[in-house]
Amino acid sequence: MTIPSVETTIRLIDTGAAAGSTCSPDLATPPWEFDAGTPGYGPGSSMGDVIPAGSPRQGALPERYRTASPEELSARIVEAKQALGDSVVILGHFYQRDEVLRHADFVGDSFQLAQATQSRPDAAAIVFCGVHFMAETADLLSGGDQAVILPNLAAGCSMADMADIDSVTECWEQLEELYGTDADASGRVPVIPVTYMNSSAALKGFCGEHGGIVCTSSNAQAVLEWAFERGQRVLFFPDQHLGRNTAKAMGVPLEAMPMWNPTRPLGGNTRGELDAARVVLWHGFCSVHRRFTVPQIDAARAEHPGVQVIVHPECPMAVVDAADSAGSTDFIAKAIAAAPAGTTFAIGTEINLVNRLAAQHPEHEIFCLDPVICPCSTMYRIHAGYLAWVLEALVGGGEQSAQVLNQITVSPDIARHARVALERMLAARPPASTAPATTLPDQQLVGV
Ligand code: 13P
Ligand code: SF4
Repeated sequence: MTIPSVETTIRLIDTGAAAGSTCSPDLATPPWEFDAGTPGYGPGSSMGDVIPAGSPRQGALPERYRTASPEELSARIVEAKQALGDSVVILGHFYQRDEVLRHADFVGDSFQLAQATQSRPDAAAIVFCGVHFMAETADLLSGGDQAVILPNLAAGCSMADMADIDSVTECWEQLEELYGTDADASGRVPVIPVTYMNSSAALKGFCGEHGGIVCTSSNAQAVLEWAFERGQRVLFFPDQHLGRNTAKAMGVPLEAMPMWNPTRPLGGNTRGELDAARVVLWHGFCSVHRRFTVPQIDAARAEHPGVQVIVHPECPMAVVDAADSAGSTDFIAKAIAAAPAGTTFAIGTEINLVNRLAAQHPEHEIFCLDPVICPCSTMYRIHAGYLAWVLEALVGGGEQSAQVLNQITVSPDIARHARVALERMLAARPPASTAPATTLPDQQLVGV
């Protein structure tokens, strides 16, 4: 079965050639139309998300990449990769466009890709087709002489930007004022900071420096167990939903999970509420996963009796509770692969992955819970044009010497502590079913 790519689908809807709707018709526009001039999360993102003033800006992409056809870009990427050989490795997250992901050497979820950054120490360059926090993590975990490249600097993450180092430090100081720093009789300190992988390197550094750890959606439970062994309570940022869903599944009652709003004293909580807290949740969220609702699940169950509903744990608690299961992008892919033929799945995660899974598994019926086509607008910014641009720069040629463009580098003072928190995370492995990141065979891609 050939399913058109998300980009093609949006274009068809936009021109009236196909039925359906998208969260923004601008998604049919190539990213360079809005990257250079207007810093923002781009079409389709929540209007409530605000991009920080200091976020990296992407300069204009040269004309020859902007006007090239998809076929030409693909051929140029293949040629550049051949010329570069083992000196480059391309990593791709499951949410990337198919036009990009088909060139990746490793495809996986955040945890798998973090591991993959350490798998090719011989490669001089790691091109990360994902978002900014993933490229920072790759820089932290890779060798000092390896250059990590993010093809489009405007590929950030609106959730990651909802927690900044100043607000978290301010929160930490308020908690320290209440609870001090001394461990109790069982050796547990008052608060352990836990940051979701979807956060800046500065926050990972904060966790490393203050006895904390990083988690991903695939090992969040193992990480919380690690933190509860060492602390009386956890400060979890930036994603309230992953924190709440994971702690709830571990038996933590909702009353013991107050939310911290950094604009209010004590985060908007009373002293008593914080005293009773096991997990203090930062108020961040993902604007893609926030779109999924319980009525969508009810509609899927009404229309498809026996449907299996699987959602990502960044979805709100009511959605996770109403689903049959929840887990990381890799968990979703594996659950579908393991199901008996003829299963119907309604999936609550990003549309590029859902459509790809539907194409990979013609033996099942697979659809997205959200009927509106809405990719992660920042992942979507890694267009094949940007990938061709950074790879051809690495090759050089003609008058042009080889050049590393868009390098992501974490400063040494942050890196020192951030690596500690990441090493703790890598030791807190997800359940055994999680395999390393893999290559994606061509036939597993949807048509473009
Ligand atoms: P995974 O680690 O499950 O791939 O999630 C990353 C992400 O950003 C989901 O929005
Ligand atoms: Fe960030 Fe959400 Fe996009 Fe994941 S899907 S990268 S959390 S905005």
